[in-house]
Amino acid sequence: MNYLTLALRLIHIIGGVFWVGSALLMNFFIGPTLRATGDAGRQFAGHFMARTKFTSVMNASVYATLIAGFWLYGIDSQWFSSPWMHSSVGIGFGIGAGFALVGFVTGFMNGANNRKLAALGSQIQGKPTPEQAGQLAAVQKQQGWVVPVNTWTLLLAVFFMATARYLVF
Ligand code: HEM
Repeated sequence: MNYLTLALRLIHIIGGVFWVGSALLMNFFIGPTLRATGDAGRQFAGHFMARTKFTSVMNASVYATLIAGFWLYGIDSQWFSSPWMHSSVGIGFGIGAGFALVGFVTGFMNGANNRKLAALGSQIQGKPTPEQAGQLAAVQKQQGWVVPVNTWTLLLAVFFMATARYLVF
C-alpha cells in the first residue's frame, strides 16, 4: 500500500468536504440569513467572523486541499511528464482543479467581504450613516456576483473530481 498517496487522499478529501461544505452553508443559508436579520444579523456576523476560529479553520482546510491536490496530480502525472495528463482522466482532474482555483479566488473575496460586513456591523448603531450605507451597498454589489461564481465553481470542481475517473472523451 502506498501510504503517502493514502495520506494525501485523506487530507485532500476531508479538507475538500470541509471547504466546500462550509462555503455552501455560508452562501446558501448563513449569508441570506444575515442580510435578512438587520441588527441581530450584524451582531451575529461580528461574533462569527471575529471571535470564532471559522476563518482559520477554513483557510487551513482550503490550503490542505489545494496542496494535497497538486501533490496527487504531480504523483499521477509523474511530475507533469506522463501521457496521463492528456488522457480523459487527467483532463477531468485538471478541469476540476481549474474550477477549484476559481472557487479559491472568489472564496477569498467572499471572506474579505464578510469581514468588511462584520466590521461595519460592529460600528453601525441603529441606522447606518450615509457613508456606512455606501460601504454596505458596495460590498453587497460585489457579493452579488462573487457568491454565485463561488458556489458554481466549487460545485463544478466537486463534479469533475467525483467523475474524472469515469470520463471518456
Ligand atoms: C474544491 C476542491 C476540491 C475537491 C472538493 C476535491 C475532491 C476530490 C475527490 C473527492 C477526489 C477523489 C476522486 C477519485 O478518487 O475518483 C479527488 C481526487 C483528486 N483530486 Fe481533487 N478536489 C479538489 C481540488 C483539487 C485540486 C485544486 C487539485 C489539483 C490539481 C486536485 C487534484 C486531484 C487529483 C490528482 C485527484 C486524484 C487522486 C488519486 O490519484 O487518487 N483536486 N479530489
